[in-house]
Amino acid sequence: MDPHSLVEFTLGNVLLLNFIQRKVKRKVYNYIGTFLKKLSRIGSNRFYSHSNIPKMPESADLRLNDQSYPLPILTGTEKEHAIDISQLRKLSKFITFDDGYGNTGSCESSITFIDGDKGILRYRGYDISELAEKSNFLETCYLLIYGDLPTPERLQEFNNKIAASAELTQEVVETLRSLPKTTHPMAALACGIQSLGGAYPTLASNNRSSDLEKFDDAACLIISSIRSIAAAQHRFSMGMNHSTKDSTGNYCEDFLSFMFSGDGNDEIPEAVSKALDVIFLLHADHEQNCSTSTCRMIASGGANPFASVAGAISALWGPLHGGANMAVINMLNEIHKSGDDGSKFIESAKAGKSRLMGFGHRVYRNYDPRAKILKSACDQALEALGVESPILEIARNLESSALQDEYFIQRKLYPNVDFYSGIILQAMGFPTNMFTVLFAIGRAPGWLAHWKEIAASGSRIHRPRQIYQGSNLRSYTALEER
Ligand code: ACO
Repeated sequence: MDPHSLVEFTLGNVLLLNFIQRKVKRKVYNYIGTFLKKLSRIGSNRFYSHSNIPKMPESADLRLNDQSYPLPILTGTEKEHAIDISQLRKLSKFITFDDGYGNTGSCESSITFIDGDKGILRYRGYDISELAEKSNFLETCYLLIYGDLPTPERLQEFNNKIAASAELTQEVVETLRSLPKTTHPMAALACGIQSLGGAYPTLASNNRSSDLEKFDDAACLIISSIRSIAAAQHRFSMGMNHSTKDSTGNYCEDFLSFMFSGDGNDEIPEAVSKALDVIFLLHADHEQNCSTSTCRMIASGGANPFASVAGAISALWGPLHGGANMAVINMLNEIHKSGDDGSKFIESAKAGKSRLMGFGHRVYRNYDPRAKILKSACDQALEALGVESPILEIARNLESSALQDEYFIQRKLYPNVDFYSGIILQAMGFPTNMFTVLFAIGRAPGWLAHWKEIAASGSRIHRPRQIYQGSNLRSYTALEER
């Protein structure tokens, strides 16, 4: 089937479905979805794979009611193709419908490349495993935000600026202290970032050219202070005082010290701060995921970097997104408590009674490359900490059983970045409800890079459309008549 007839075939079905009642329609969608999924599992890749499209045409023809609409084809630097429908509604009054955006490109971006089928992740063209081996978190922040690796002088300057921005103003500290004790650390983090913007109003003006001009200061402030906010909130929640330790210039060592320093021996093993650095680096960006799309959406309306990052933090909080690392630990603890070695749990996940958290991904249909790196970082960190983790054995059992099980193989479900990160974080002493905060600290440079990209591009405000399925016009019934 060539791409043109595929477009016509799909559209024909959509037109037909418009005449069918809503409930029936939902069933048909589900049926088609399941049918297509099954088809793809039995090797239907021939319909879609690039290698089978003989030669990429310059445009795709969409036929609607005997009218033809040529739609330009966009090609990315990694040869990904997209049908550009930006003029479609204007020309035809039709919009496209893509529940969950699985087939929709929301922007052109030059920050991160993912090939989920091959398990590839690159920041600005550099492979994630090479960066994890040779770079570090702060250099990677620079790379993501500015597009290239820094010279030694630029890197030093950047690191100095980050170190100098670690101390929170008294007002921000007081904001965090005044939050209800039951506030979740993710809510406190979003709140802290908003109050940080409030403390530096010239960096958060909502005047795009001014915010862009001062972006470098805002970015360093956010990257540095996000860990100070996280640490302060943790200490307050434990009834401790805010740490007033000076920054040494080592991002992760400082963070661990802001978090845990007390009266005793505060020495932090190098292997531990290095493992944390790798975790941050691996989380630093992941193209148009839920939180990054939220950040871009907020930025598209002209909001400043602090507001955009605070919104992204809220989006990250959800258990299907950044909250999954917490959910993995809860799942492993539950399995451990029940005396299961993981095998019963696998069966219940296959029966749809539970979900194997830390498995599966919207874009990776292969091993998440970050999970591979974290698996070995996990072994090293536990050894350095001298910690025996009973749940690590369960995690290994779950992974090896799932990788050999038809259910997971057919659905291309592999461990994702969250599967092992929680085990390391737990061994380091982070409370479970802070795991997603750690993810947010790592992701901050990615959100900022996307904020800058969208602000500098002068792109229009993001505003998707919808297919309205509610009541038609009806008259208001007076309260006493209802
Ligand atoms: N355990 C068991 N079955 C699963 C899992 C899982 N973790 N993930 C997907 N499936 C099954 C679904 O039940 C579905 O089966 P079906 O075709 O028989 O109905 C099939 O695999 C496809 O699943 P979808 O939910 O359609 O996949 P989607 O791409 O929408 O979801 C997601 C991706 C949300 C990540 C999902 O795999 C999941 O819930 N995983 C667990 C949560 C998790 O680890 N999230 C972290 C993601 S990484 C990140 O955000 C940093």
